[in-house]
Amino acid sequence: MKKPFNHFSALAPKYEAYIKPNLPEKLLSLINLPIQGRILDAGGGTGRVSQFLRNKSARIVIADQSLPMLREAKRKEGLQPICTDSETLPFPENTFERIMMVDALHHVNHQQQTADELWRVLKPGGRIVIEEPDIRKFGVKLLALAEKIALMRSHFLAPEQIAQLFSSPLASSRFENDGATAWIIIEKRTGC
Ligand SMILES: C[S@@+](CC[C@H](N)C(=O)[O-])C[C@H]1O[C@@H](n2cnc3c(N)ncnc32)[C@H](O)[C@@H]1O
Repeated sequence: MKKPFNHFSALAPKYEAYIKPNLPEKLLSLINLPIQGRILDAGGGTGRVSQFLRNKSARIVIADQSLPMLREAKRKEGLQPICTDSETLPFPENTFERIMMVDALHHVNHQQQTADELWRVLKPGGRIVIEEPDIRKFGVKLLALAEKIALMRSHFLAPEQIAQLFSSPLASSRFENDGATAWIIIEKRTGC
């Protein structure tokens, strides 16, 4: 079967010229670093965001389905790129202390499957931070329309809906927002 056009693979060499890398201060405060263990940047693309976390964790793995995006990540020292769909992550359960997903959840094909996989590979006591455009805001509704017109197959969820993807009794979630951006923070309690 013919694969659908991948916008990110086409844009990869110029991606950071359009979407500039900036110190992700809010994300850094929410993800709560430094830690000894591993961070997963799911849908991490070129490493535009996770490059700022390099001296704050033992290991940063970028999991993305676009090889051209990962080629750009590979140029950045200290990032370990892995080509995979976020719906089927090639890691054992309880692998990562921290997981981040920035501006990618609305692009994946199966959001519930992706959430289930993020949860599976998160260690007990660990934390997931998902950053998304806040679809409750008018400007983001326009962005969603533009992405529809560009045939990007995006599907935006409100922060409450994202939190509901993590339904385990061990999950505790909260969200914050600032302007057009929302952060959903999910913690995996250690149980008794
Ligand atoms: C808007 S980019 C964000 C990249 C990076 N997180 C950032 O903020 O610069 C979305 C990324 O999600 C990736 N992506 C989309 N669907 C995916 C999936 N099902 N599994 C893994 N990566 C996916 C794309 O290849 C792309 O690199």
